[in-house]
Parts: sequence; structure tokens; C-alpha cells
Amino acid sequence: MVDVRIPLKDLAAQYRALEAELEPAFREFLASGQYILGPPVEKFEREAAEYLGVGYCVGVGSGTDALLIALRALGVGEGDDVVTTPFTFVASADVIVRLRARPVFVDVDAETLNISPGAAAEAVTGRTKVVMPVHLYGLPADVTAIAAAIPGIPILEDAAQAIGGEFAGRKVGSLGAGAAFSFFPTKNLGAFGDGGLIATDDGTLADIARRLRVHGAVSKNYPEEIGYKSRLDGLQATVLSIKLKYLDAWVARTRGLVARYRERLAPVEGVALLAEPANCRPAYHQFTVRATRREELRPFLAGEGIASAIYYPAAVHLTPAFANLGYGAGSFPEAEKAAGDVLSLPLWPEMADEQVEEVCAAVAEFYGR
Ligand SMILES: Cc1ncc(COP(=O)(O)O)c(C=O)c1O
Repeated sequence: MVDVRIPLKDLAAQYRALEAELEPAFREFLASGQYILGPPVEKFEREAAEYLGVGYCVGVGSGTDALLIALRALGVGEGDDVVTTPFTFVASADVIVRLRARPVFVDVDAETLNISPGAAAEAVTGRTKVVMPVHLYGLPADVTAIAAAIPGIPILEDAAQAIGGEFAGRKVGSLGAGAAFSFFPTKNLGAFGDGGLIATDDGTLADIARRLRVHGAVSKNYPEEIGYKSRLDGLQATVLSIKLKYLDAWVARTRGLVARYRERLAPVEGVALLAEPANCRPAYHQFTVRATRREELRPFLAGEGIASAIYYPAAVHLTPAFANLGYGAGSFPEAEKAAGDVLSLPLWPEMADEQVEEVCAAVAEFYGR
């Protein structure tokens, strides 16, 4: 086994860079005696709302819970359809099933791998309660085109992978009726555990989400409805408040690294790059290419000490958990094709330019052999 010299992400590098700022904040938090919700969470919710340009943010236990609670706050329940992409992390779709609603998948655009606005519009029926685009790999989906194609149907952005991105000059997460973010450690804004956030301009939606995260109760021990137990904890909020100040710089840095990757890999036959539409400013969570002979390329890179990953090896509709929806092989050709050739290469904000050069040289060497 060759040692991994260039990992997919190096989370400890970010900790080292921020250690001097984080540790006194931890100590203050630990001495505070209040560990769940409370002042650090309220502070972070205000800062995040200001950053995103939305009226309200509600911190919850994970990105998955942010989706679940936001969908439920939008009224999704039994008998409803939610239109979304089959080429995403399973959480985007499993929350729909957990609400006893039905995921209605539509194919992705071949160039961006984000949901195709035209296909989304065609899938909308009287049962459609919400349309949920996913900003895959941090590349903003065209929410404006989707909204124009489906007037009157709320859009919930699955922005788990895309905090810091912009579409047509507006922050991802401020484009629809609501948005869900994840602070899973590898994400653009990563906590030291699980965490999530709902963003919205709708005060009623925010109130419902606040209630649902604490068992459905506004006043303790007197629930109005059955809710969940899903709060952002204060330690994570403390970390996130500190890290949020650096997010734009990290996004700019990863965009620079991706620009370098794109320039070096564009001439390499065997690699195809995803489109980067002019009206958006991606916040790259992954740098993902389409790679011919992917299954040979991966071990070759591993032999050079370079990590890689496949997000995602199967379109959601072809996984066993979603088999009962009745889709099959061939239902969404672009998503299925992507599952067969996408490859994510190392990318994190502290990555050195030389490391990108090394990865590109190894990829070029593989295809040049
Ligand atoms: C697109 C997408 N949606 C939802 C989630 C769920 O977020 P979490 O892992 O915080 O529950 C993730 C991340 O894992 C994701 O990538």
C-alpha cells in the first residue's frame, strides 16, 4: 500500500490554521454551562442570515434534518410529490420518503449534472408540493430558470454542498422559499461534528421549523404537534461563527485551485470537465470530472499516493432503498451515465498549487500511457 500523499481533503490543516482562535472560544463555551441552543446558536443564526441575505436562519442537528424539517414546514406530507434529482446524496431523497411523500425524480443536465429546469417543469403535476434542486458539488443550480418554469410551486434548495456560492449575484440559499445547509465536517463550512441550518425569508416557515426542532413545542412540555429532536449545539455554533468569517476567502481559494485544475486538465483526452455557467459563482465542495476508464484511473492515482472518490456510484433511483418507486435502469440516462464516470479529485482550501499540479500530472500520465 502506497501512503496517501494527497488526500481528498485535509480537515486538520484548517484546524491548525485556526487553533489559536478556536481554543479560547471553546474554553469560554465550556465554562458557560449552556450547551444546546442558547446564545452561541442565536449568534450564529443571526450571522448566517446576514451572510446569506435572508430574514431567518434556524440551526438544526444536520443537513438531513434541515431538509426534513424544511420540507415538513412547507407542508409536505402523505400523498404529496417532491420533484428532485436522482443524482445526489441519498439524504436529499430519503427525507421525502420519511414524510410519506413521493420523490419524483427528473434527469440532470448533462453539462452541469444539476437538475434540468425543463425536465423539472414537465414533471410537475397537481400533486407537486415542492421542487428541490441540489447544488451539486457546489455548482449552483439554475433556480431562476426552475422558478420561471414552475410558477407558484415553492423551491427548497438543497444547498448542503454549496454554502458561499452565488447565482446571478445572490447567495445560494436565498434563491427559493427555503434552503437547507449541512455543516458536516467536510463541507465548505464544516463543524466538528454534525450540524445543519434552514434559511428562509418566510417568518412563518422559520417559526414552524423552530417548533419542529424541539418536539413540536413552542412552550416546553406542551407540543402542538409531533416534532423532532434536532438542534445545532452551542459548540458547533461557536466553531461555525469563527469559520464563517473565512468562508468567502476559502471559496475564492478553492475557485482558484479549480481554475488551475480546469486549465491543466482541459487538454487531457479522457477527461471531460463539467460546465461552469457564466451567471453563477460556484463554491466548490468537490472538484469532479468525467473520466473514461475511471476504474483503472483510480488505482493508478492511488499508486501515486493520490486519493479520489466517486460521488455518486449509483443514481438514487437505482439503489435498493428506492426500488419500490418503480424506476429502473434507463429511467434517467444522464444521471446513470454520470454515476458511471464521475470522479472527484483532491480539493480543500489549504491545498497547495503544487499539489494540484501533481494530481494533474498523474492524470495526464495515465491517459498518455
Ligand atoms: C446534497 C446533500 N444533501 C444533504 C446532505 C445531508 O447533510 P448531513 O450529512 O449534514 O445530514 C448532504 C451531505 O452529506 C448532501 O451532500
